[in-house]
Amino acid sequence: MPVDKSGNRIRQMFGDIAGRYDFMNHFLSGGTDIYWRWKTVRLARPDGEDPILDVCTGTGDLAFAWRKAASASTRVMGTDFTHGMLKLAEQKKRTRSVSFMEADTQHLPFPNDTFQLVSVAFGLRNVSSTIGGLEEMTRVCRPGGRVVVLEFSLPDNRLISRMYQWYFRNILPMLGQMLVRNRHAAYEYLPQSVSEFPCGPRLTEIMEEAGLEQTSFHKLTGGIATVYIGYKPEQPE
Ligand SMILES: C[S@@+](CC[C@H](N)C(=O)[O-])C[C@H]1O[C@@H](n2cnc3c(N)ncnc32)[C@H](O)[C@@H]1O
Repeated sequence: MPVDKSGNRIRQMFGDIAGRYDFMNHFLSGGTDIYWRWKTVRLARPDGEDPILDVCTGTGDLAFAWRKAASASTRVMGTDFTHGMLKLAEQKKRTRSVSFMEADTQHLPFPNDTFQLVSVAFGLRNVSSTIGGLEEMTRVCRPGGRVVVLEFSLPDNRLISRMYQWYFRNILPMLGQMLVRNRHAAYEYLPQSVSEFPCGPRLTEIMEEAGLEQTSFHKLTGGIATVYIGYKPEQPE
């Protein structure tokens, strides 16, 4: 049976683990998640002063990484539908040029063609409709702007892939439940949702169906994570 991604389940699950989310991210990935967000920003450097949006922003780490890389006058916004995650993002905020707002990625409260970059890190996999989320991100991106997705993926190398899946299925859920007791088995959900989620060319196809062009992907750390970039077409003259 496919993993349950209903909005309520996802919101309650992240609400339950919010307090330990950052610690668990850094601990379970050995700090590699920090490098992955840094690399994402390097691969899609902000350009000009139009605002940047990070959806499913959680505790805001990718939004803060865009803030560091963008020009001082560029506004960065982060949206998420889990109040507890955004509360932590607000606490971590050090500048007024980043702001956070509660919003569902499938119904973003912004006009068409607003942002130079619309990103999502480890969030698209949790949105109940992948294409619906991507279409909405594309709608609010300005023509010529970029939609950027950072997501877990399965490594190509068979040996690494096996070791990774073994760790993911056996060690991670046990560690997760031990360290962050939660009612929604969040660390069992993680490997299940990753193994079902499209990666590599399958995800770029969906990005193109959502209206993006010139899509590309860049594997990180042997393919454990991948950065996807797509451009919103320029409007015809
Ligand atoms: C794994 S966390 C990723 C957080 C952050 N982007 C990061 O890199 O650590 C996934 C986040 O997506 C949010 N999320 C999932 N589905 C969503 C939706 N439909 N709309 C808004 N936020 C959503 C969850 O609330 C959660 O905070």
